[in-house]
Amino acid sequence: MSASPLVLGIESSCDETAVALVRGDRTIVAQAVASQDEMHRPFGGVVPEIAAREHVEKLTPMVARVLAEGGVTLAQVDAIAATAGPGLIGGVMVGLVTAKALAFAGRKPLIAVNHLEGHALSPRLIAPDLQFPYLLLLVSGGHCQLLAVEGVGRYRRLATTIDDAVGEAFDKVAKILGLGFPGGPAVERAARNGDPRAVPLPRPLVGTAEPHFSFAGLKSAVLRARATGNFSTDDLAASFQQAATDCLIDRTRRAIDIMPEATALVVAGGVASNAAIRAALAELTARRDLPFVAPPPWLCTDNAAMIAWAGAERLALGMVDGLEVAARPRWPLDPGAETVRGAGVKA
Ligand code: KG4
Ligand code: ZN
Repeated sequence: MSASPLVLGIESSCDETAVALVRGDRTIVAQAVASQDEMHRPFGGVVPEIAAREHVEKLTPMVARVLAEGGVTLAQVDAIAATAGPGLIGGVMVGLVTAKALAFAGRKPLIAVNHLEGHALSPRLIAPDLQFPYLLLLVSGGHCQLLAVEGVGRYRRLATTIDDAVGEAFDKVAKILGLGFPGGPAVERAARNGDPRAVPLPRPLVGTAEPHFSFAGLKSAVLRARATGNFSTDDLAASFQQAATDCLIDRTRRAIDIMPEATALVVAGGVASNAAIRAALAELTARRDLPFVAPPPWLCTDNAAMIAWAGAERLALGMVDGLEVAARPRWPLDPGAETVRGAGVKA
């Protein structure tokens, strides 16, 4: 194996089929992402069965294409990494079984990557100087957590949501406002033309000692405000985005207090591609004199470069998996974290 091993990464845990070739020296050799938005749009959300079938059709040709674009053969790849959970289990199985077959046929080490670890380590792909431990705000469609990232495979959960994830709230608000699917980018676009102070909305849990999140009440408040007929769609979108941002900032500020040893604040996950949220986090960290790392939007939403990179980090530490490794619909980054009072199953 070369000093800078080449890892093939596969991501298929939701509605993006993605393949990437990444080197241990942080070179992204080639990558591709196929979004299934068009397939799921008529249903207003991701249909797991359709997603899994799409991965079956798209994934293998995409592996062939990415290898060709990278100018390498399977023989020149040093390890195969794939998302093994958490996520929609049908899709996870397609990606993981494909990776197992490639690893078996090519006699390569297999690395079963936790999708959340992919997001958590993604900033290190673009910020070589980023050192452990750092504070991670992980904000996606399925998760909303603050984590102390202490090393590869070493995560301490400081906070989580007691109901909905923030991306889920964006998606539900988009539905309420008739903005379509996927919801997050649609709400952000509408918010640009609205007044963030137009609609009075709550800031759930703001000010509490533990930095947990709650977004279900905020979403319901948008639904009630919409029903009055007094507010424009753009004002509702802008006011919701402002309220959600205020919650994220207050909770993150509290986590910074709790984790003085953090070398930086890092944001990751699909919601981290929201420009208003990024700007507010940048302002918060500037005030606290804390470095802030936000991966580019393409690296925040689901992709395979982050899975290949997490694979490269694990490979360097000898953390490889056997061909019998399981696909896991649920897989917390911090298995020791306790259930939070009031939390639904998502915690
Ligand atoms: O990380 P991700 O691509 O998939 C999951 O692992 O969940 O995150 C998807 C989530 C969705 O809820 C989507 O609406 C949200 O991220 N999202 C956004 C934006 N782009 C994606 N939310 C707010 N603003 C955005 N620009
Ligand atoms: Zn994700």
